[in-house]
Amino acid sequence: MGFGFVSELEVRGGRRLEGTLMLQGSKNSALPIMAATLLLDGETLLEDCPDILDVREMLAIINGVGGCNEETGCCFTGEGLRLFHNRIDGVPDYESCMRFRASSILMGALLATAGFFAMPYPGGCKIGRRPLDYHIEGFKALGARVEEKDGMLVGYAGQLKGGFYRFPYPSVGALENLLLAAVKADGESVFENCAREPEIVDLCDFLIKAGASVDGAGTDTIRVKGAKRLNGIRYRIPGDRIVAGTYMAACAIAGGNVRLGNIEPGRLDCITDILKKTGCHVFTDGRINEIIIMSDGRRKAVNYLETGPYPGFSTDMQPQMMALAAFSIGSCRIKDRVFESRYRTAWELEKLGADVGTDGDSVIITGRESLHGGVVNATDLRCGAALVIAALGIHGKTVITDCAYIMRGYEDIQRDLEQLGADILWRIKEENAGNR
Ligand code: EPZ
Repeated sequence: MGFGFVSELEVRGGRRLEGTLMLQGSKNSALPIMAATLLLDGETLLEDCPDILDVREMLAIINGVGGCNEETGCCFTGEGLRLFHNRIDGVPDYESCMRFRASSILMGALLATAGFFAMPYPGGCKIGRRPLDYHIEGFKALGARVEEKDGMLVGYAGQLKGGFYRFPYPSVGALENLLLAAVKADGESVFENCAREPEIVDLCDFLIKAGASVDGAGTDTIRVKGAKRLNGIRYRIPGDRIVAGTYMAACAIAGGNVRLGNIEPGRLDCITDILKKTGCHVFTDGRINEIIIMSDGRRKAVNYLETGPYPGFSTDMQPQMMALAAFSIGSCRIKDRVFESRYRTAWELEKLGADVGTDGDSVIITGRESLHGGVVNATDLRCGAALVIAALGIHGKTVITDCAYIMRGYEDIQRDLEQLGADILWRIKEENAGNR
């Protein structure tokens, strides 16, 4: 058994959050846009691209399939993330693909450039079954052939042609894949029942600036006319709405007065409305992309929260709102209609004294005036973030283990929350199987 290192966070809560924070770029906008650069001729520069583990994984894969390395190809520079490729190979690194879900977004780009792909089913946060059937059916509608062989997905395209596909469910990743397969296909494609997330709007905005013809981004019907050539551009990744929501929930739990910059407030309307119902004061200014949240004392529980496709309540904010409910006055029933297994945060919160119940496919959190410190485990990206903000509300020491999950989506949650006045420290521990 070897030695490894585990990253843990140690939080001593009970302190209000005060101050201003400029938010990082959006993980879920950056990843599909990075995949899209494989379709472009010449160099692309992504400003405000978040330096997070999932971006680093995507970078390594794109360098691999693009025949580059950190010196000759994609790398972070002083101005942002530089992306470039010499050629395109349709077989991305197996191990990298297995490490995160967003590797699946490469399938559409590889079909459109290399004309084929061979990759494993992706890994990523264990929050549900997360099949790829919509992706596969959509590729077939564009003339591709996709087979499953020994746990591998193999797709062949030759020349893709425009087609029609109606999504059975507004899947974000499946739409991103089909957009990347369609923007250089022969002819026009029409997609219906599309996801309307801001990250889709950002991907379409990027493609249009690179020369693509895409209409209807942010609506449920999108039309794409295939282009012969798309060119590399300079593009700024918009602020991350889930990181913004996470820090707003942190302020709701800890109390305080926090100002967040580099975020389009309209992208969080649903979260803002919910936090206002709990008694927080939220002020937004779309002209300067800023949100201010103020919170004093215990919050009132919202009695029912159900996740759904945008503009509904985002599943990526469900764990964080569960953490807030644990401290609120009253009970909150939470149902995740997007990912059926995204309730593991509740069982970690229970280790800190939260009152957790279940009722069918819902979790019921009854708020308590105080929870107690302890050691809890980040079981996935947003669970980890939720446990960190819960710890801010606990007088005493809380340790969150397996924080590498958090680093997949947050550039540095410790740096950000410390900047707002939290007592939070990284602990990098040597992991020896014998004394875990
Ligand atoms: C994206 O995941 C995001 N990830 C997720 O954020 C986010 O929670 C999710 O969209 C929903 O908004 C990235 O953008 C990298 P989906 P994705 O396809 O594309 C089912 C985070 O924390 N489905 O919209 O994988 C699926 O099982 C992550 O940042 C099929 O059944 O999500 C799920 O129930 C977590 N068949 C629902 O659709 C398919 O072919 C929504 O999934 C595809 C999806």
